[in-house]
Amino acid sequence: MIKKKTGVLLSGGGSNLQALIDACTQPEYPAEIAVVISNTESAYGLNRAREHDIPAHIISHKDYATRPAFDDAMQDMLERHNVEIICLAGFMRLLTPEFVARWRDRLLNIHPSLLPAFKGVHAHAEVLASGVRFSGCTVHFVRPEMDAGPIILQAAVPVLPGDTQETLAARVLEQEHLCYPLALRWLAEGNLAVKEEKVTVKNGRFLSGGMINPA
Ligand code: GRF
Repeated sequence: MIKKKTGVLLSGGGSNLQALIDACTQPEYPAEIAVVISNTESAYGLNRAREHDIPAHIISHKDYATRPAFDDAMQDMLERHNVEIICLAGFMRLLTPEFVARWRDRLLNIHPSLLPAFKGVHAHAEVLASGVRFSGCTVHFVRPEMDAGPIILQAAVPVLPGDTQETLAARVLEQEHLCYPLALRWLAEGNLAVKEEKVTVKNGRFLSGGMINPA
């Protein structure tokens, strides 16, 4: 089987990277991680990649005067590894519209809320402050605006009395680790179509446990 070469961009711990690495060890999984790029030197995700002999590179935004120059450096690295699909996995930089356009419908992000609600970096705090009874995660195609783009799948979890940002984040992360490998599988298999900014999934396989609704 020819596996789709996937690049993962991250800035932190990389538990979602780990979920993707684990999925890629299955022989019939249609993608492989070709390269991991972090914009921060201290990102633990780099170690996860190295432990699995995946090329791991630091491209620090601080080394580039402009956003386009930083994005071009990442583009070069992605091309060097023949990347066909990009997964953002806790990548804390906004990408230029040009970069996003170049990777249109081949660039995924995961966000720890039920988008379009609670965009941004304080999702869990805002969920708790709002009093909503459910939160969750969303995998979506990236568009230039932050945490925006056609939704591929979502999983919902309850917000429980006494939840802290940490307990809620842990409950959501469990679902992230199921959703991201599934979304990447669908994309790599060619089973996702985007029409009028809505996604349909051919041959979608449902998971039990969370409330996952692919289409
Ligand atoms: C996840 O909650 C993801 O949804 C968000 O950033 C976090 C990254 O976590 N975009 P990890 O580094 O994958 O553990």
